[in-house]
Amino acid sequence: MKKLLDIKKMRVSIEGKIIVRDLTLAIKPGELHVLMGPNGSGKSTIAHALLGHPRYRTAATRLRFNSKDIRKLKTDARARLGLFLGFQYPLTVSGVTLANLFSELTKKNRPRNKKLLHLTLASRMATEQREAQDLLRAAVTGHMRELALPEDMLYRGLNDGFSGGEKKKAEMLQMLALKPKLAILDEPDSGVDIDALKAIAKSIAAARKVGTAILLITHYQRILKYLKPDAVHIMVKGKLVRSGTAILAREIEKKGYAFLQKK
Ligand SMILES: Nc1ncnc2c1ncn2[C@@H]1O[C@H](COP(=O)(O)OP(=O)(O)OP(=O)(O)O)[C@@H](O)[C@H]1O
Ligand SMILES: [Mg+2]
Repeated sequence: MKKLLDIKKMRVSIEGKIIVRDLTLAIKPGELHVLMGPNGSGKSTIAHALLGHPRYRTAATRLRFNSKDIRKLKTDARARLGLFLGFQYPLTVSGVTLANLFSELTKKNRPRNKKLLHLTLASRMATEQREAQDLLRAAVTGHMRELALPEDMLYRGLNDGFSGGEKKKAEMLQMLALKPKLAILDEPDSGVDIDALKAIAKSIAAARKVGTAILLITHYQRILKYLKPDAVHIMVKGKLVRSGTAILAREIEKKGYAFLQKK
């Protein structure tokens, strides 16, 4: 099977300081890869660099997504190719609601309604608005129910006053609505209660069902109780030091990261 994400010898630096070096990693369509590592080892840096964050300087022998060289592409172009990032610390955007966001996202795919052409401008706009709302509901309300998010959250500013767990769930909701080819999820399981953890694991499983590959950044193996990873990678001080199976995550939980350096 061809590679969906193909990274060869990537280096990432910020303000002249090299944070990630010599990163080689390949993810095939639909796979679930887990990335673990101590605080400050460079996990979020990789996530941001892959999305083309302008603060990071990236150099790589190869950086392909879905067979396309993305090294020169801006963030929006990378997102349009099907790359998604669920943030470790989602930002608040007070003036934009989730409903605004989703209706923009679904606009492109909205079918043209011929009947509407014969209506007056005012009623056409009202009908279009209603249709947009119906589409929005169809796309997200099922997922909102599963995530135990109240529907009125769609009409509040994005992450505005959301609790920590609600923010993480809102990131999941965006992933489920967008159906990206690859979702990089940066600690979706940090700071969430046990029911939220289950709901988030369920969302990840649901995304995988529709073909989304996942790069899951986490500190805990507890989320892996619900998910079956294809690979687990350990990063220490900006370098991938070990790759293995779910067993590796359990070993880390028991012994900490120090045992890797002893070998
Ligand atoms: N502007 C900067 N100048 C120097 N170092 C920086 C700068 N920005 C980030 N760093 C450093 O880069 C390192 C990697 O940070 P990163 O956020 O990628 O870690 P992480 O593995 O995601 O950690 P955590 O598990 O705590 O989320 C940290 O040591 C951080 O202090
Ligand atoms: Mg991080």
